[in-house]
Amino acid sequence: MVAKLLIVGAGGHARSAIDVVESDVNYEVDCLYDPTASEESDVFGYPVYAANTGLDELIGRRRCDVFVAVGDNFQRQRIQHEITSNNNHVRFATLVHKQSSVSQRASIGAGCIIMAGAIVNAGSRLGAGVIVNSSASVDHDCVIGEFASLAPGAVVGGAVSVGARTAVGLGAKVIHAVTLANDIVIGAGSLVLSNIEQDLSVAYGHPARIVRQRAADEPYL
Ligand SMILES: CC(C)(COP(=O)(O)OP(=O)(O)OC[C@H]1O[C@@H](n2cnc3c(N)ncnc32)[C@H](O)[C@@H]1OP(=O)(O)O)[C@@H](O)C(=O)NCCC(=O)NCCS
Repeated sequence: MVAKLLIVGAGGHARSAIDVVESDVNYEVDCLYDPTASEESDVFGYPVYAANTGLDELIGRRRCDVFVAVGDNFQRQRIQHEITSNNNHVRFATLVHKQSSVSQRASIGAGCIIMAGAIVNAGSRLGAGVIVNSSASVDHDCVIGEFASLAPGAVVGGAVSVGARTAVGLGAKVIHAVTLANDIVIGAGSLVLSNIEQDLSVAYGHPARIVRQRAADEPYL
């Protein structure tokens, strides 16, 4: 059965998510919700409900599964947790683009999105709310913590562990068996050769080095 989907957020990541939904036989987009949107707007013809409609009321009324399409890892987790605590029976969709490659031996948490050209190899485990963006690659036996993200073209080698909410930037590469702690930002184009064990670090370069600390809710996109 095809399930109806309410997408939370109506920005760039939501626009990409719609493409994934349209390629996925399990879901169809019902509507979007974005408190910052102007009233009576739409994205690609799908209605966007704005601040004058309560999200919890909308979830109850439309009887939809939910996907939180917010690119920032900290904010995505905050919103998903808020929805969970206000809506007992809500289900978060896991979206997989038909032109991605996800091993049957990988596990993907609720609220994850795997975009076009992305690869998730055997034995890898993705927690809730993870983004594997276009052409990003998660090799075998990785553990990707909840609400972490791989930006377009990012590559993590085998048995890499990525902490919760950690963001691996555009085209960055992490060699096999490296561990990244929580809430780290790996700058675009970096090459990570050894563990980064300090939570809340910003690291970049060839090889990547920690350049400073950050606050958990500091924007990085
Ligand atoms: C790392 C990042 C978060 C910025 O960190 P920052 O500490 O705020 O850095 P700033 O922008 O203040 O730049 C400081 C210096 O670092 C350099 N720098 C920034 N990002 C860098 C990177 N990824 N690699 C190498 N150098 C970088 C800047 O050029 C600047 O150098 P300068 O002092 O010689 O002028 C950001 O550049 C980045 O790479 N974000 C990830 C973006 C991304 O992947 N987006 C995904 C979209 S889907």
